[in-house]
Amino acid sequence: MSDTAQAMPTANDTAYDVLSYRSDFPILSEQIYDKPLIFLDNAASAQKPQQVIDAVRYVYEHEYANVHRGVHYMSEKATEAYEGARVKVQRFINAAHDHEVIFTRNATEAVNMVAGTYGRRFLEPGDEIIISVMEHHANIVPWQMLRDEKGLVLKAVPVTDDGEFLLEDFKKLLTPRTKLVAITHTSNVLGTITPVAEIARLAHDAGAKVLFDGSQAAVHSVVDVQAIDCDFYVFTGHKLYGPSGVGVLYGKEELLNAMPPYLGGGEMISTVTLAESTWAELPNKFEAGTPMIAQAIGLGAAIDYVSAIGMDRIAAHEQDVLGYATQKLTSIPGLKIFGTAPSKAAVISFSMENIHPHDIATIIDRAGVACRAGHHCAQPLMDRMGVPAMTRASFGLYNTRADADALVEALEFTQEFLG
Ligand code: ALA
Repeated sequence: MSDTAQAMPTANDTAYDVLSYRSDFPILSEQIYDKPLIFLDNAASAQKPQQVIDAVRYVYEHEYANVHRGVHYMSEKATEAYEGARVKVQRFINAAHDHEVIFTRNATEAVNMVAGTYGRRFLEPGDEIIISVMEHHANIVPWQMLRDEKGLVLKAVPVTDDGEFLLEDFKKLLTPRTKLVAITHTSNVLGTITPVAEIARLAHDAGAKVLFDGSQAAVHSVVDVQAIDCDFYVFTGHKLYGPSGVGVLYGKEELLNAMPPYLGGGEMISTVTLAESTWAELPNKFEAGTPMIAQAIGLGAAIDYVSAIGMDRIAAHEQDVLGYATQKLTSIPGLKIFGTAPSKAAVISFSMENIHPHDIATIIDRAGVACRAGHHCAQPLMDRMGVPAMTRASFGLYNTRADADALVEALEFTQEFLG
């Protein structure tokens, strides 16, 4: 395997200036096992551009103090930067108000927040929640916990063998008892992009609220929560080239206002006496304690970064790499791709005849190719597809056709090595 060939993007990538974007990510220059790093585990967590690393560093060097608390200069600077990041998120997802953006630790915490507040307050025994069979555990387990606590019914929309969301089956699952629909916008395993606007419309017609898990979608496409007309939208910062430790819960203002707080403590109150407390206005009501100040500001920098490139251009580039990689992988005998829905993001999960996914990931790692293997926090989907695990290559804004070539070459070597 020639090392330089792996790292060199082809002419096809240059119109989008992928070389220049790659150079923004210091880690992409790392050598592992004396080979260039081919990073194809972006759906688990993406790498960070220098602009994000610098923004976080800048906070600690020049504008760090606790937010919302001090009248002193540094606290005001930090508060301005932190609230500025909220406005960046608001614009990124086209929320109507910045106070509809709640900073959380990650997408998981955001889903739990909706389950633990909206769900606990407004759902009654016998009420129904609809998820899908391709949800990440983060959008399954909180609802199971709520179901068990409140005596709810949890139903799952099936997918086709290709991994397509079955809209007709979804319609059949909707009943007057459906109170909440919680569906992924893009599968972290299959890449399937779900028809979110249609799902939201149908859910609303049935009188239900709707939450979308945008952890993968916000990375690969333009998200407009008002156009989708969702009630809640969650995503995480670290997959969007931002720091780990920060995520987002978007909620419609009237719903967030009606919901009780999630955590109690400092910052989320208006008044406290020993007898009782009253709650702060949005968004503070849902941000108890010292928040993830530097991480949120870093997420703001990541949003600036991807917005400067253009999410639509990133999406188009990734679609090109996805198409190329899919075609190349298909030519490997015995390789099966899971998830071939027509509307699909740049995620390819696959199996190879007679080779365990962990063995595949371990062997290609020695060639410098980083992929994830396992159940991908989606065990019900593994059951649906009839496998215990898959290997997954997930592409980001800096990946190239050459990265796909490197993957294919490493897989062919794996087959020869174990064959
Ligand atoms: N949810 C992340 C993934 O799909 C961790 O890999």
